Amino acid sequence: MNAGGRRVVNCGGYGVCTFGDPNPEVRHAVIDALHGHAFGSRMFPTLELRAADKAMNDLLPEHLMQCAFFSTGSEAVEAALRLCGANGIDDLYALTGAFHGRTLGSLALNGSPRQRAYARNWLPPVRFIEFNDVGALESLETELHERSAVFVEPVQGEAGVRIADPEFWQILQHVVSQSGALLVVDEVQTGLGRTGTLWCHEQLGLHADVLIAGKALGGGCIPVSAVAARERLRARYLADPSQSSSTFGGYPVAAVAVRATTEVVLGQDVGRLAEQRGAELQGALDRAISQSDGCITAVRRSGLMIGIEHSNPRLARTFSTQLVASGVVPSLSMSNPNVIRLLPSVFSTELDIAEIGAALDAASSALVATSN
Ligand SMILES: Cc1ncc(COP(=O)(O)O)c(C=O)c1O
Repeated sequence: MNAGGRRVVNCGGYGVCTFGDPNPEVRHAVIDALHGHAFGSRMFPTLELRAADKAMNDLLPEHLMQCAFFSTGSEAVEAALRLCGANGIDDLYALTGAFHGRTLGSLALNGSPRQRAYARNWLPPVRFIEFNDVGALESLETELHERSAVFVEPVQGEAGVRIADPEFWQILQHVVSQSGALLVVDEVQTGLGRTGTLWCHEQLGLHADVLIAGKALGGGCIPVSAVAARERLRARYLADPSQSSSTFGGYPVAAVAVRATTEVVLGQDVGRLAEQRGAELQGALDRAISQSDGCITAVRRSGLMIGIEHSNPRLARTFSTQLVASGVVPSLSMSNPNVIRLLPSVFSTELDIAEIGAALDAASSALVATSN
């Protein structure tokens, strides 16, 4: 509901609300946790933290193990950078257009010049691989070595839901594996079913050495992020606890949120739900592009991660304003002002889907009206 008591479908929140806004079961568990020792102590792992570690391991691909919890995605990316450092990595790569956060280490990995602009002169060196350019991977073959790490988002969210061809990922994985470099997969936005499978990188045939999660991990209630890695990498990272400690990382309320979210995720096939709900929206998305008179230039969708690209930022603003007027809240794309994102919950009801469809119709009509 908005302040005026009107029903609102939240497709925004930068992808936090994969399981609802908030998920009712997670909210219930969190409220219960607030009645106990809400913060606990950092002297020893609490029972809640142990349960969250176990829950996380149940979610992870078999070869990865939970390392540590943090609060934001950027913090978890920084932790992954420290994990790389602890394992002798001194050569970093990321993809053009990438977004990994807003702290200095994660800013350095951002492939969008706009996102790096203010801190450009303070950033550690990162080399950028052209996104979705198979040709660019040829030279990489001779550049990567055992002290290199390549950071990737399986779908680039902030860049406007950019989706690379399967061949690009296949060759990148091959080159990384051959060289002995590490593949660090940032699933802060794509993880936990959002794109149609529990982890997006698995549907692309990628083998993460390090995996970063966040956003939906707190069930739409609590900010929680996490880093997982292969056991040998994890052991070197955790050998010095000062590298993985964070005051609020995995505190009892956050830990309870992770455990409750994990139960939601494992209780049903959330990836399949995302794909089904996404497919139900496809007709309305196709209509929006065909009715927009060229104002919408592309629609990209992976499960329930949807990007609607306009021919200029003014039209994108008109489109998002009209969506909000129709009771559907979208997300902007920080690195690409032409793209409006829709990131609905996998538990969207038939009514939600119908309302999103109707809002898309109204917004594409508004585009045509303003462009004439
Ligand atoms: C892929 C990815 N990594 C990292 C981050 C940073 O997360 P946070 O804003 O929680 O620091 C984001 C945020 O949008 C993201 O999409």
